[in-house]
Amino acid sequence: MRVAPSILSADFGNLAADVKAICEAGCDFVHVDVMDGHFVPNLTIGPVVVSAVAKAATKPLDIHLMVENNTFFVDLFAPLKPGYITFHIEEEKNPHRLVQYIRELGIKPGIVLNPHTPAEAVEYLLPDVEMVLVMSVNPGFGGQKFISGVVEKIKRLKLLRDRINPDCLIEIDGGVNDQNIQMLRDAGVDVCVAGSYVFNHDSYKTAIDSLKV
Ligand code: DX5
Ligand code: ZN
Repeated sequence: MRVAPSILSADFGNLAADVKAICEAGCDFVHVDVMDGHFVPNLTIGPVVVSAVAKAATKPLDIHLMVENNTFFVDLFAPLKPGYITFHIEEEKNPHRLVQYIRELGIKPGIVLNPHTPAEAVEYLLPDVEMVLVMSVNPGFGGQKFISGVVEKIKRLKLLRDRINPDCLIEIDGGVNDQNIQMLRDAGVDVCVAGSYVFNHDSYKTAIDSLKV
């Protein structure tokens, strides 16, 4: 299991120090939640702050867009050279075009599914994406309760992924901790996002290690 701590739960007064600390503690990606106050009822950070995060990080950024007008935000963040940019399928009329555009910018494209969106929604996009991110909470806030119904969806998604594009990573986001991580691994998850679990822990290294199942 690869681990992507969500900096939404970091100390924003000491953001660079927290980003360095999770990288030194052995995370695989730095998960950045971009919210626009329209697609979700919360507003987070833009390219000015994320460029400071990129400077502090020694691991690739995994930018999760929760926005209307995805292309506008891709253009804002692409110059920071993140490893991945993922966008919600619920908010994109032309997902193949946007996937292709992100790839042409030299960034790995990924699709995000809200908890109610079926695995089959990404079937025809799977050949073209590097990651599918399955939300296990409604997007917008850290610290919410895991929605257990998504485990069945991950199993179905894994079957599709194994058949269509075995290199595509399956990522989970929301309510992940040391209690549900093994079940998620068994269902087929490759990368877990964890915000409050990692940043509320006394030792980031202990927390991250406990998710590497
Ligand atoms: C929610 C975000 C998550 C969030 C996860 O909209 O996409 O990345 O920060 O936080 P936890 O791990 O606390 O549920
Ligand atoms: Zn996220």
